[in-house]
Amino acid sequence: MNFIVLTIFPEMFNPFWDHGIVHRGISCNKISASTINIRDFGKGRHRVTDDRPYGGGCGMVMKPEPLAGAIREAQKKTPFSKTICLTPQGRVFNQRIAREFAALEGLVLVCGRYEGMDERILHDFIDYEISIGDYILTGGEIAAMVVIDAVTRLIPGILGGADSAEKDSFSDDLLEHAHFTRPRTFEGEAVPEVLLSGNHREIEKWRVETALIRTFLKRQDLLEKRVLSNQEIEILKKWCRDIETIVQAQSLRGADTLSGG
Ligand code: ADE
Repeated sequence: MNFIVLTIFPEMFNPFWDHGIVHRGISCNKISASTINIRDFGKGRHRVTDDRPYGGGCGMVMKPEPLAGAIREAQKKTPFSKTICLTPQGRVFNQRIAREFAALEGLVLVCGRYEGMDERILHDFIDYEISIGDYILTGGEIAAMVVIDAVTRLIPGILGGADSAEKDSFSDDLLEHAHFTRPRTFEGEAVPEVLLSGNHREIEKWRVETALIRTFLKRQDLLEKRVLSNQEIEILKKWCRDIETIVQAQSLRGADTLSGG
């Protein structure tokens, strides 16, 4: 996978390339990562990259010529890549899109600044517009880092554990189960007994159950979209029966509860 980032702040990426998963990917030649300074394609002594908007209004717009020059240069270096633009107006990035991107040969990531870029660049040079969420950043650089990090960790052979990426939260629209490590008791709270039992079937069952509970409590929307397995349906039905039992016991005692007895 080749990542080429087009930005007017290439220095922002030096520490990013030098740490963590991206650094590991570069070191083991699973990815290549570089920047192109859009300013290098700007005209004149000041290499201007922005200008006032036609029609008036506040803010500046990224000029098309430097962007086009930088994108062409990137596409020359990695011709089979897709070109994405980081913008709050794009499709909201998620794990599914990360997986799609991880299967590509390369990504050219164009970081917008100011009020945005000249619309003709979006029409003629960009394959996908991507947002990392419904909020406005001052530029696309941090969004590009988010995308690169999420994609890099999906590239086979980069993460440590053989199947860590497959078991991630969201990889199958279910949040991941709870995790515990030593000490056995922390500030009075003990690790669930089943995890110490050595019974792998029971541990797996517990993991599925806690994954379902977490998803239900934190992200019900994911559970609604998910195609449930038979095991998951059985677990959910059991909760329904248990809850029903509790509710029925309460309603039988309802009069007592209301009178505070
Ligand atoms: N640029 C500014 N805000 C952004 C966002 N939310 N996602 C991607 N790029 C951006």
